[in-house]
Amino acid sequence: MEVVICKTYEDVSRAAAQVVAETLNEKPDAVLGLATGSTPLGLYKELIRMHTEEGLDFSHVTTFNLDEYVGLPHDHPQSYYYFMWENLFKHINVPVENIHVPSGTANNYKAFCQWYEDQIDEYGGIDLQVLGIGSDGHIAFNEPSSSLMSRTRLKTLTEQTINDNARFFDKKEDVPVYSITMGVGTILDAERLILLANGEGKADAVVAAIEGPVSSMITASALQLHPDSIFFLDEPAAGKLQMRDYYDWIQKKKPGAPGT
Ligand code: GLP
Repeated sequence: MEVVICKTYEDVSRAAAQVVAETLNEKPDAVLGLATGSTPLGLYKELIRMHTEEGLDFSHVTTFNLDEYVGLPHDHPQSYYYFMWENLFKHINVPVENIHVPSGTANNYKAFCQWYEDQIDEYGGIDLQVLGIGSDGHIAFNEPSSSLMSRTRLKTLTEQTINDNARFFDKKEDVPVYSITMGVGTILDAERLILLANGEGKADAVVAAIEGPVSSMITASALQLHPDSIFFLDEPAAGKLQMRDYYDWIQKKKPGAPGT
């Protein structure tokens, strides 16, 4: 696990975009796992800039999003499909048929979840998964107590998540109670994971995920089990890390490390 502490949110976004660009340079037909929420907005802005100004090409890319609210169709302004379309997809050249976001309106959720898992497998698995973190330490919608081996499934949101996400809706009662989400196990199967966090409000979740025990109570702590995961944090989100100096030391010493 690597911890990269950046001065500002903009630096977090740029550093994460660099990893995405490197992935696409190495593998133009990479499979990207994408996240929603306010955190990755800066990353998506930077990717759009790189596409427009530097020709970063998404024409062979496939995407799988982490999660969706149950009950919201694609064209609902609060649906994650709509979010992705408005904030990324419509601005880049990823073919629409290569975009996968879990359906919030499936007839048979069990069958849909299995299909989603099968689709990820069919495309050869996710090369790079982008993650945010909830204030309770969740990734995607894997709320506390989610199995660390869970797969894509229906998940009931906690009140804390409903409260956190109420800011995007007219009123709290409009926030769906159920979601469909990739499981922690699905996420851990990706080749590489990058988790972005900014702001003081994430500091507790971040320290628990990085320095706490691996626990289903903080599903982001499962990243400790992954051989290639990077946390990109701004200063306030990193504010409670005990090993902070060591993480900075590692980054400083990186250029001289043997084999790099
Ligand atoms: C939701 C999403 C998560 C996201 C989290 C944090 O719960 N399902 O994927 O990481 O919100 O959102 P934000 O980045 O807005 O703080």
